[in-house]
Amino acid sequence: MRFSGKTCIVTGGGSGIGRATCLQMAAEGGYVVVADLDLASAQATVDSITGAGGTAVAAQADVGSSAAVQSVVQKALEHGAAIHAIVNDAAMMTFTPIVDIAEADFFKVLSVNLGSVFFFAKYGTPHMPTGSAIVNVSSVHAFATTPNVVPYASSKGGIEAFTRGFAIEMQSRGIRVNAVAPGSVDTPMLWNNPNVKSGVEKLSGPIGKPEDLAAAICFLASDDARFVNGATLLVDGGRLAALR
Ligand SMILES: NC(=O)c1ccc[n+]([C@@H]2O[C@H](COP(=O)([O-])OP(=O)(O)OC[C@H]3O[C@@H](n4cnc5c(N)ncnc54)[C@H](O)[C@@H]3O)[C@@H](O)[C@H]2O)c1
Repeated sequence: MRFSGKTCIVTGGGSGIGRATCLQMAAEGGYVVVADLDLASAQATVDSITGAGGTAVAAQADVGSSAAVQSVVQKALEHGAAIHAIVNDAAMMTFTPIVDIAEADFFKVLSVNLGSVFFFAKYGTPHMPTGSAIVNVSSVHAFATTPNVVPYASSKGGIEAFTRGFAIEMQSRGIRVNAVAPGSVDTPMLWNNPNVKSGVEKLSGPIGKPEDLAAAICFLASDDARFVNGATLLVDGGRLAALR
């Protein structure tokens, strides 16, 4: 029960990796704030948790908005004075070449994927005691990518640099900051990706389950990872290890 007595915020908690992380944290005793753009899916995650005897609350939020992130933090603080874990999982993709993409669409991806990590760092960490942890969800696209997803790949590379830098800033406060970089995971985001549908992005290697990523995220968010800081853990079933 690694999260007993702990308040955990998970963004993107309504689906896929975020939902699996919420369920795992709650199963291990955590009070989970399930934040998602889609309130109905966040509530469905909460219903699964409470149905299994756990505790959670849904929070509707566009995590690319500072005000929305601050409201999620306030919702978490209604449960208690401290936040012990924040998982920045929510993300979006666009599929337009850089020379054609609207400026607003480029910066929207950066706001949702990377701005959200900044907002939770800025407004969440003042309420995090020593021993707390942040886990940011990156992607194999931070290392190698496909055409037309430059905003997404840039945001994920940014997340990994942010993770290292912020880990250093938080070291004196005893707050760890790490990232996971998933490979192909069986979620709507994978199967809705036009590059995957067209075969431009080849799914070489095994496809992971959301629970495989939840296991890694919960490890990094827990005291089991007390000596892991500023790291990005590649969780891709060996996809990037292959020379091709
Ligand atoms: N599935 C994969 O193969 C894969 C691979 C690499 C990285 N990832 C990363 O894993 C994370 C989770 O992805 P997933 O595959 O579980 O996707 P998913 O589509 O199953 O879930 C994403 C969730 O994020 C929510 N969301 C989207 N925009 C939001 C916003 N602005 N504010 C709040 N919530 C928002 C969606 O409503 C959805 O519930 C993402 O960061 C993604 O980049 C996934």
